[in-house]
Amino acid sequence: MCAFERSEKGMEFKMYNNWEELEESIENCNKCKLCKTRLNIVFGTGKKDADIMLVGEGPGGDEDKQGIPFVGKAGQLMNKAFEGLGIEREKVYIANIVKCRPPSNRVPEDDEAEACLNYLRNQVILVKPKIIVLLGSTALKNICGKEYGITVCRGKWIEKKGILYMPTWHPAALLRDENKKIEFWKDLKEVVRKYEEIKV
Ligand code: URA
Ligand code: SF4
Repeated sequence: MCAFERSEKGMEFKMYNNWEELEESIENCNKCKLCKTRLNIVFGTGKKDADIMLVGEGPGGDEDKQGIPFVGKAGQLMNKAFEGLGIEREKVYIANIVKCRPPSNRVPEDDEAEACLNYLRNQVILVKPKIIVLLGSTALKNICGKEYGITVCRGKWIEKKGILYMPTWHPAALLRDENKKIEFWKDLKEVVRKYEEIKV
C-alpha cells in the first residue's frame, strides 16, 4: 500500500487547502529530532502544478545551507540529465522525504520520515502530478512500502490511485557508478516517453 493511501486511513493526516497554509505550517517545525541540527528547512521547489514531480531522500550539506533541494553535486548531475531530455528544472516540482538534513547525510530514520511525510502528502495533493519519479531507495520505501527494493523495482512503473511512480537510482549513486548513470538516463527517457503518451 502506498504511503499516501495509508495516511488517508490514519488519524494523523492533516490537510492544508493551499500553499500558503502549508508553507506556514512548516515554519519552525520541530516534529522530529532533525530540527535540532538543520540550518534551513528545505521545503521544495519548482512548478506548483507540474505534471512531473521528483522525490529525493533529504537535504545534503549544500541544500541545508541554501534551503533549496538538489543544488549540490548530485543535484547538478540530475539537472543535466533532465535538461538533456528537454525538461528544465523549473517545469517539474522537486521535494524530499524529509525536509531537514540528517546529520552526516545519513539515511532518514523511520520516525523522522513518518513525522515529515504529512508535508509531502500535502505537496502531492496540491501539485497533482501525473508522474512521480522516486529517486532512490528511501523515496521508494517510504512512499510505496518497505517491501519494495530499488534494485528490483527501478525502471518499472508502479501505478497507485491514478499516479504513475517511476523508481530509479538516487543521483548521488550515479557519481560512483557509470552503469547506474546509463540506467538512470534510460529511466528518465521512459518517463518522458510516458508523459508524451498520457498528456492531454
Ligand atoms: N539528495 C537528496 O535526496 N535530496 C536533496 O535535496 C539533495 C541530495
Ligand atoms: Fe519537521 Fe520534517 Fe524537519 Fe522533522 S524533518 S523537523 S518533521 S520539517
